[in-house]
Amino acid sequence: MIISPDESSPARVFSGVQPSGLPHIGNYLGAFRNYLAMQDGYEAIYCIVDYHALTSTHDAALIRQNAHEMALGLLALGLDPERATFFRQSDRPEHAELAYLLSSVVPVSWVERTPSFKEKRRTQPADINHALLTYPVLQTADICIYRARYVPVGKDQAAHLELAREIVRAWNSRYGELFVEPDAVFSDSPLIVGTDGVQKMSKSVGNTIDIFADEAVLRKQVMSMVTDTQRILRTDPGRPEVCNVCQLHRWFSPEDFEQVWEGERTARTGCVDTKRLLADRILAYFAEARERRRELEARPGRVEEILRAGAERLAPLATEMLGQVHDRMGLGPPRGVAQ
Ligand code: AMP
Ligand code: TRP
Repeated sequence: MIISPDESSPARVFSGVQPSGLPHIGNYLGAFRNYLAMQDGYEAIYCIVDYHALTSTHDAALIRQNAHEMALGLLALGLDPERATFFRQSDRPEHAELAYLLSSVVPVSWVERTPSFKEKRRTQPADINHALLTYPVLQTADICIYRARYVPVGKDQAAHLELAREIVRAWNSRYGELFVEPDAVFSDSPLIVGTDGVQKMSKSVGNTIDIFADEAVLRKQVMSMVTDTQRILRTDPGRPEVCNVCQLHRWFSPEDFEQVWEGERTARTGCVDTKRLLADRILAYFAEARERRRELEARPGRVEEILRAGAERLAPLATEMLGQVHDRMGLGPPRGVAQ
C-alpha cells in the first residue's frame, strides 16, 4: 500500500542493490535480512539500481542479465511483491531527473571526498567517469523521491547515507522543508569479511560465498576461506574471535556455534572440519530459497512482470514528488496557471 507523498512517511523504507548477479552472504547478512524483516510493519520499496551499475560496467547484455539474476535471487530469498514494492531503477527515470536537480545544491568537494569515489579512483583508474562522481547524488534521489525514512544497508554504505542527509539539509534549507532526512538501518552483522579473511566480501574482489552457486562451487568457496593464520599445526589451539569461519558460524549455526568455537579452542576439531560444517549449514540455511530460485528461474516472465508492476505502482508518487520539486525550484509554469 502506497500512501500519498504529501503525508509525512515515517514508516517508509527504501533500499537499492546493484545488479551484480548472484547475491552473496555479505549482502544477505548485512542488508537483505533487514529488507525481508522490514516488509512487515513498514511500507517497503526495494530497487535494482541499474543506473548505478553504469558507473563501472559498460556491457549492456551483462547489466541486463545481472539485474534479472539479482531480482531472481531476492525473490527467492523471500522478497514478497505483495508486501513490498520491487522494481528496476531505470523503469522510473524520475530518479535520474531528481539526481540532476539535487546536484545543483551539492558542492563538488562533497562528492570528491566520498570514500567510494576515492576507492574507485584507485581501482578503476582508466574509467573515472562523471557518473562515478555523482553516484551518491543519484543514491540520494532514489531515497528522496519516495520520502523514505529508513534505509537498510551494510556498513559500507554509511558514508553515502551521511551524505544523503547533508544533501537533504542543503536542499531543504534553500527551497523549504520537503525531503525527509533518511536513517541507515544496520543489521547486527553490518560488515561481512570475504573468504580472504581480510577484505569486505565483495563480487569485485572475488572473495564471495554465493548463496545460489552450484553446491560444489559453494563448498569450494567455503573450503577456500582463510582461517586463523596463527593456527599452523592441526594440534594448535584456534582463536574463534579472529577466525572468519567461526564468525560465520555465529549466523549459520545459531544453536551450537559456541560448541564449534570450543572445538577450535581445544584443537578437538581442525579448520577443515569447521569449514565443512559451515558449508553444510549454509546449504541447509538456504535450501528453501535455492529451491524457490529454481522454480522461479523456469518462469523468467514472472520476474519481469513483478518488476514492471512495481515500477508502475510508484509512478504517481514519483511524478507528484517531481512536480513539487519543480514548483519549489522555479521550473515550468507557475502553479495554478492553465497550460
Ligand atoms: P551492493 O551489491 O554493493 O549493491 O550491496 C547490496 C547491499 O548489501 C548493500 O546494502 C551493501 O551495503 C550490502 N553489502 C554488500 N557487501 C556487504 C558485506 N560484505 N557485508 C555487509 N553488507 C554488505
Ligand atoms: N550504493 C548502494 C550499494 O552499492 C546501492 C544503492 C543505490 C542504494 N541507491 C540506493 C542503497 C538507495 C540504499 C538506498 O550497495
